[in-house]
Amino acid sequence: MSNEHSTGRKPQDTDSLDARDSGYFTEESSIEAVTQRNKNAKDDRVRFAMDVITRKLHEAVLEIEPTPDEWLSAIQFLTQTGHLCDDWRQEFILLSDVLGVTMLVDAVNHRRPSGASENSVLGPFHVKGSPTMEMGANICQDGKGEPMLVHGRILDTRGQPIHGARIDVWQANEDGFYDVQQKGIQPEFNLRGNFNTAADGRFWFRGVKPKFYPIPDDGTVGSLLNVLGRHPYRPAHLHFIIEAEGFSTITTHIFDPHDPYINSDAVFGVKKTLLAEFKRIADPVRIKDEGFGEPFWDVEYDFVMAVI
Ligand code: BEZ
Ligand code: FE
Repeated sequence: MSNEHSTGRKPQDTDSLDARDSGYFTEESSIEAVTQRNKNAKDDRVRFAMDVITRKLHEAVLEIEPTPDEWLSAIQFLTQTGHLCDDWRQEFILLSDVLGVTMLVDAVNHRRPSGASENSVLGPFHVKGSPTMEMGANICQDGKGEPMLVHGRILDTRGQPIHGARIDVWQANEDGFYDVQQKGIQPEFNLRGNFNTAADGRFWFRGVKPKFYPIPDDGTVGSLLNVLGRHPYRPAHLHFIIEAEGFSTITTHIFDPHDPYINSDAVFGVKKTLLAEFKRIADPVRIKDEGFGEPFWDVEYDFVMAVI
């Protein structure tokens, strides 16, 4: 029995059918062929996102025209990236970081009023539950590194101090390693601390001068950077998360503007407003006044919080 009889439909001249209407796949109609198929998606936002991603991906394929081997390499790259992920390591976030996507997602979600502090990447080395300390405490537990005093104010956009802001700070040591990368070498919670501001909004604590360091580059992301002729380094920085009731949480860094990698951060985290001056203080009076026994680095920076 012919198809005509079994389906009850009249056979159509498929050659004359517009592929766009039929849903058949051609090079010219590939985007519509796929996006039309998603028209009954249960979630409009997912459908919208998949329509955009499908369109951009098909456009990329049409422009690049990858060979089958090249496409397989791309699939293998993503497969290996997934295999590298576990509770401790997230190679996909690192990939998003080096492609500038992490910073872009953050930017579209935190369009703050002018004058408010800007965000930077969170990075993989934040630890919850680090100790809360008195203002002035030294977050460096092992005494390694050049001493540094960090101080400033937490303000609102009108310049008023914020009482009860919580400052979570963490940094790498003078060799460019976080405590969690050197368990058994650095003390637990080395170079981490939490501070709460009083009515004057002021904060101050001691640490050590940070240094540039490479992002984890022994995986697929490191190989990609290498193929692209890019280095894996991040310029010297201190990480902060600043929270206060009624204000948008700031997840950010302050950077040393004299760092050799300041204009080529592997993860695009540097913003002009996040450059802080690291001043070397050798004046014996200031050294004594601040309670240091040797020259130290002085870093002053005010954070400005936007209301939610
Ligand atoms: C960090 O600064 O800790 C970091 C940020 C992004 C990727 C890797 C490390
Ligand atoms: Fe860092």
